[in-house]
Amino acid sequence: MTLKKLLSLSMAALLTLSLSACGGDTASKAPSGESSNNETPSETATAPDGTVNLANLKGLTVGFAQCDSASSFRIAETESITQVAKENGVNLITTDANGDIAKQASDVEDMIAQGVDYLIIAPQEEEGLQNALQDAMSKGIGVILIDRTISGQAGTDFSTAIMSDFVWEAEQAAAKIIEATGGKGNVVILQGSPGATATTDRQAGFMKAIEGTELKVIADQPAGFLMANAQTVMENILQAQGKDIDVVYCHNDDMALGALSAIKAAGYVPGKDILVAGIDGAAAAMEAILAGEMLTTVSCNPRFGPIAFETISKLENGEAVPAKITNEDVVYDINNADPALGF
Ligand code: AHR
Repeated sequence: MTLKKLLSLSMAALLTLSLSACGGDTASKAPSGESSNNETPSETATAPDGTVNLANLKGLTVGFAQCDSASSFRIAETESITQVAKENGVNLITTDANGDIAKQASDVEDMIAQGVDYLIIAPQEEEGLQNALQDAMSKGIGVILIDRTISGQAGTDFSTAIMSDFVWEAEQAAAKIIEATGGKGNVVILQGSPGATATTDRQAGFMKAIEGTELKVIADQPAGFLMANAQTVMENILQAQGKDIDVVYCHNDDMALGALSAIKAAGYVPGKDILVAGIDGAAAAMEAILAGEMLTTVSCNPRFGPIAFETISKLENGEAVPAKITNEDVVYDINNADPALGF
């Protein structure tokens, strides 16, 4: 098993696949690779929904290092991993780093010491896990990064990274904002947690997309991908600049929902006085869109259980896996929002 796994891990860096699958009805994409920090091949995956039934997973011990459990995305992701592990007889060890990269690195080291066969990791930040992951890889433990990546190379620093194209998501949110405003107005940005690839790429993608328009960023602050933080940050921005704000662009839906609460509490009407855009496709965001309070969300599916365990099954069989797997995403607005599609 170890030899097969090692062969798979080394082949991963060499493999080039160009598969495609159609995603949503409003917008779908081929993988651009723009959001990757690695010049590695990519595969476009189908949405990570559905079930898997893979006999060779039974009896494996898999460690799942979650970065935090404080948002709807994280809760849905942990549920998905837990459910697929249970359905397939996997012994799953789960840790929660509470948003602390040093704790996440030590969580990984603890799970290596406990003898895991594979690691599934949702990295808190791009830097800080490298030593722990190199330790895992050197011991023949397959490392599957989900929903964010780290700086490093697939095949040596980790086995594969499965995630959305965050730059593309930001470009779609920006396109909706430009369409709704005619490309003019004052924008507030609520960023995710510093150092996360989701934050870096969603910021860069948005800023590039509004270049050449008359959209002006008048406030730009981190709120940690968390609803309560976003509400507090937005309350302060509204107090100082409320009358000037036309648009709030948030790096995820939980923050958009926190911003909505602050906007309403300050006496503004979301959807009329201030447009709000998010990313993730959370059910509550879909409801806010249908209520006319949110302009748009772009999906970022947290249900990684099936694809993560399919990948482990392939590694266990000695098959090569792509260095990068990019999930298909969908843009939602008033015309196609559906809470049943969210989480
Ligand atoms: O890495 C994925 C992003 O991280 C999700 O959009 C966000 O909700 C989460 O915290």
